[in-house]
Amino acid sequence: MDKIIVKGGPRLEGEVAVSGAKNAALPILASALLADGKSVYRNVPDLADVKTMLKVLGTMGCGTARLTGEQADVCEVEVHGPIHPEAPYDLVKTMRASVLVLGPLVARFGRARVSMPGGCAIGARPIDQHLKGLKALGADIHLTEGYVEATAKRLTGGTVNFDVITVTGTENVMMAAALARGRSVLENCAREPEVEELARVLNKMGARIEGAGTSVITIEGVEALKPVEHAILPDRIEAGTLMVAAAITGGDVLVTHVVPEHLEAVILKLRETGCTVSPEARSIRVKAPRVLHSVDVKTTEHPGFPTDMQAQLMALMTVAEGTAVISERIFENRFMHVPELHRMGADITIEGHTAVVKGVRTLSGAPVMATDLRASASLVLAGLRAEGKSEVQRIYHLDRGYERLEQKLRGLGADIQRVKA
Ligand code: EPZ
Repeated sequence: MDKIIVKGGPRLEGEVAVSGAKNAALPILASALLADGKSVYRNVPDLADVKTMLKVLGTMGCGTARLTGEQADVCEVEVHGPIHPEAPYDLVKTMRASVLVLGPLVARFGRARVSMPGGCAIGARPIDQHLKGLKALGADIHLTEGYVEATAKRLTGGTVNFDVITVTGTENVMMAAALARGRSVLENCAREPEVEELARVLNKMGARIEGAGTSVITIEGVEALKPVEHAILPDRIEAGTLMVAAAITGGDVLVTHVVPEHLEAVILKLRETGCTVSPEARSIRVKAPRVLHSVDVKTTEHPGFPTDMQAQLMALMTVAEGTAVISERIFENRFMHVPELHRMGADITIEGHTAVVKGVRTLSGAPVMATDLRASASLVLAGLRAEGKSEVQRIYHLDRGYERLEQKLRGLGADIQRVKA
C-alpha cells in the first residue's frame, strides 16, 4: 500500500488549480443511465471512486471510457438498449455512492437490484430515505439477501418529504422523478451545489426540474431524456482542503478553478481564524497570519459548514492559539483522525459528537494511519506543519477523493512525496 512522506516546515506559496468535484461526478455519471446514447463528461477527476462508478456502469453493460492525453479529463458513458440492472455487492461495498444507480435504473428500465451499501467508517449511513422516496413514486421495494430489489411498470409523480436531509437521497429520487409520469414535489431536500449541478445536467438532458439548490424541488416527469455533454463543476472540498494547507503553513496561496459562492462558510470560518481570504470570480487567495485564532465550528447541511471539511479544520485548530470546540452533527463517527492527530502531539478531547481542541505550539511528525477520505487529508495537512517527518499510511483512502494531492502540494513548495509500497 502506498504511503505519503511529508516533512513539515515550508510555507506554501503560489497557485494551484482544483479538479472536478467527486460528489458531482458520481451522481452525474449515474444519470447517464436515464438516456439512450453516449453522454460525454469533461473535467472528470481521475479518482478511485470515479473508476468504481464507471466499473459499476460497465458491469451493467454500459460502454464506458476515459479518454487519454489532452483529453484525459473526459469520460464517456454509452447506454444502448436493455442492460443488466444490477449493482453487485463486491462493487457497492467499496463505494456506497454506487447506490445512485438505483433511481435511474428503476425509472428507465422498470427494475433494479442494487446491493445495500452497508455502513462505512464514518457511520451507519442507511438509505431508508432513498427507498421512502422511490416508494412514494410507486416503486415496489423488497430487501432480500442484502440487496434492494426495486420494480415499477412506470413511476408516477408524487410528494416526498425527506425525514432527514440527504444529499444522495435527494439526487436518487430527483433522477427517478425525472422520468416518472406527472409531477413530483420533493421537500426537505439537500441544498448542496452538487444537487444543483445534477439538476442542471438533467435539464440539459430534457428534464423539467425547478428549485434544485433549495429545500423544495419540483419535477415534471417527461417521456424520455437525451444524452448530454457537460463539464463537471470544481470540487469545493478539495478547494477548501488546499485553502487550509495555505493556512496551516502560514502561506500565501491562490486556489484557482473554484466557485467561491460554494465555499461561503469555509471562507468565513478561515477569516475568523485570522486568515486574509480574498475571493475573485473563479479563484480564492488565502494569506495566513503568523498566529491563528482558535474558532468553534458546527458541521451542518449546506450552506452551513460542510462535514467534509471538519477533519481538515480540526488539523488547523491543533496549532491555533486558544481552544476550539468542533461539533460533528451529520455523521456519528467522524472523529477517527483524532487518535492519529494525538500521535503528532495534538491536544484534543472528545466528548460525544464534540471535540475540544487546545492549540499547541508545535506538532511532531510521526507515522500515522488514514482511516477514511477526509481523515487522511487532515493527517497530510498536519504533516505539512509538524516538525520532522510524517508517514501517512493507507492512502488509498486519500485517492478516493483527491486527484494527485501530493503533486499539487509539492507545486506549492511542500516537502512531500508518495512512496510506492
Ligand atoms: C454525501 O453523502 C457525500 N457523498 C458525502 O461525502 C458527504 O459527507 C455527505 O453527503 C454529507 O454532506 C456523495 O455525495 C457521494 P447524506 P450521503 O445522505 O449522501 C443520514 C466525502 O467525504 N441518512 O447526506 O451518503 C446519514 O446517516 C463523502 O466526499 C439517513 O439517515 O450523505 C447521515 O447521518 C463522505 N437516511 C445524514 O443523513 C438516508 O436514507 C447525511 O447523509 C440517508 C442519509
